Amino acid sequence: MFFHMKAAFTSLFLFSLLFWLANCKTSQKPAATPPTPPPVAAPAPAPASDLLAADRAKYLEKVRKSIAGKEKMQADSVFENWKKLNKMPAERVLGIMDRWGETLGVSCDHCHVPNEWASESKAPKEITRQMMALIERVNTDIQSIQAIKSERPGVSCYTCHRGEAKPARRPK
Ligand code: HEC
Ligand code: HEC
Repeated sequence: MFFHMKAAFTSLFLFSLLFWLANCKTSQKPAATPPTPPPVAAPAPAPASDLLAADRAKYLEKVRKSIAGKEKMQADSVFENWKKLNKMPAERVLGIMDRWGETLGVSCDHCHVPNEWASESKAPKEITRQMMALIERVNTDIQSIQAIKSERPGVSCYTCHRGEAKPARRPK
């Protein structure tokens, strides 16, 4: 009988020891981390074409300020090194620059050292003048294809470039 009671006390003691140890463990746990919020959909990155358009807009704004008051004057009397398309008001130059950029999928720095617009240090600037001459030749030649029904058949930068500096030669 005495033996049984001793055994009972021992097992009770062991049991509470285990219970205490188990509790110890749980109380040592680091403070519960806050529940992770549900994943928020990351905003879609802006398309490259938007970034280029924003970059061009930034430079166009500077040029617009620099020709303030001279917008209606003839382009070649406002700009230093304007050799083609002279008979247009200076303000139209801005739209042409933006369109060339969009058509080639580039910003101003493809053809210019930014803010040194009159400089000829980048080859694509002179290439562009020769592209204009090429368009004149093509649009003259195309008149001789008499079966064409369009009133004014012709090509533009976009006809070939379609958003790329190097036009594709075959379907992609
Ligand atoms: C595809 C090439 C090309 C791109 C892109 C381009 N330009 Fe030009 N830019 C030219 C060429 C070519 C001329 C000179 C035209 C001429 O001689 O008739 C010129 C001339 C200019 C001039 C006149 C400079 C002077 O004083 O002689 C300014 C200003 C100018 N560009 C600003 C810009 C800005 C701003 C952008 C971007 C929005 C831009 N360009 C994008 C080709 C480019
Ligand atoms: C008949 C088709 C055609 C037309 C129209 C045309 N281009 Fe091009 N352009 C080309 C081809 C082809 C190349 C050479 C691409 C290569 O290097 O493989 C080129 C090259 C260029 C380059 C040099 C590209 C580079 O790598 O920097 C520039 C700048 C350019 N064109 C601007 C223009 C502009 C601005 C116009 C409109 C005034 C125009 N082009 C009209 C076909 C054309």
